[in-house]
Amino acid sequence: MNIGIIGTGFLGKAVAIRLLNTGHKVIVYNRTKNKTESLKNIGVIVADTPKDLAQACDLVITIVKDSEAVESVSFDKNGIIHGKHDGLTVADMSTINPISSQKIAKRFLENGISMIDTPVMGGPSLAEKGELVVMIGGKKEVYEKYKHVFDHIGNNTFYLGENGSGHAMKLAMNLQISLLALALSEGITFAKRAGLDPKLFLEILNSTYFKTGMSVLKGPKMINGNFDPSFTLKMMKKDLDTINNTAKEFGTSLPMATLANEIYQNAVTDGLGELDYTGILAFIEKISKL
Ligand SMILES: NC(=O)c1ccc[n+]([C@@H]2O[C@H](COP(=O)([O-])OP(=O)(O)OC[C@H]3O[C@@H](n4cnc5c(N)ncnc54)[C@H](OP(=O)(O)O)[C@@H]3O)[C@@H](O)[C@H]2O)c1
Repeated sequence: MNIGIIGTGFLGKAVAIRLLNTGHKVIVYNRTKNKTESLKNIGVIVADTPKDLAQACDLVITIVKDSEAVESVSFDKNGIIHGKHDGLTVADMSTINPISSQKIAKRFLENGISMIDTPVMGGPSLAEKGELVVMIGGKKEVYEKYKHVFDHIGNNTFYLGENGSGHAMKLAMNLQISLLALALSEGITFAKRAGLDPKLFLEILNSTYFKTGMSVLKGPKMINGNFDPSFTLKMMKKDLDTINNTAKEFGTSLPMATLANEIYQNAVTDGLGELDYTGILAFIEKISKL
């Protein structure tokens, strides 16, 4: 089976490496071609267009920024749809609006192509180890046909229901991440202002029931000012936009998500968008000075 990956950013590159290392033939496409060089050097085939990639693949996994990017690689001139053949399946692993995803899936289906949504929790390092958590929306039989592929990418896979339900769950998850990063940042800032060692703040937090993977793994990097990105702050801001817009479409408004969106937006405006999302600490430290 040939598997195509469209989008070789932080996550797409790691998923391509994982699939290659688990014995799959992997073909990639990226809008900016030089970002595929390191994959080419380890034996991944690089396609010139999403159409060429789709023609050569059974399963195409899209891992791009947002719904506009998914639409572009899917339906533009030389998009996936133009590489249609019997049995072609698309799985979208980007984090996008579930309602947009349903529309994209419908358009694919009208053209005889099955699509499922397969967003994930976990970053590039877990992807390379095959330890992501995968949330699936779409026809169960389509997912089951490719279950073995997703089992190589993730160690926990949840089938959730119709198209869009994977993305809806993923947005609820990213809301946790964005708020946790803020809570951790304000706790560190508060402890420092009180003259306390932030390392002790983390040590105490991590000895309690309230510790999180973030406070254990990212916390030490945060207090050392290491914000090397695996998931950028601007991408988290994109997700908060998507969460708030989707909430509105669901007829709801989330006060913390609204506030978080404003704070992450201000951090992006302040030039911090390329940092890891935990770089929100640098912004909180800056604005918290009275
Ligand atoms: N990194 C993580 O830990 C993580 C975890 C879970 C989910 N995600 C989700 O996965 C997706 C990718 O994230 P990432 O962290 O890998 O981001 P990234 O490193 O910034 O990569 C973004 C990718 O999207 C492509 N792209 C953006 N706009 C496009 C357009 N209009 N047309 C075609 N391609 C376009 C980029 O192509 P260019 O190189 O040409 O710009 C690049 O391949 C996002 O939806 C993100 O929310 C990421």
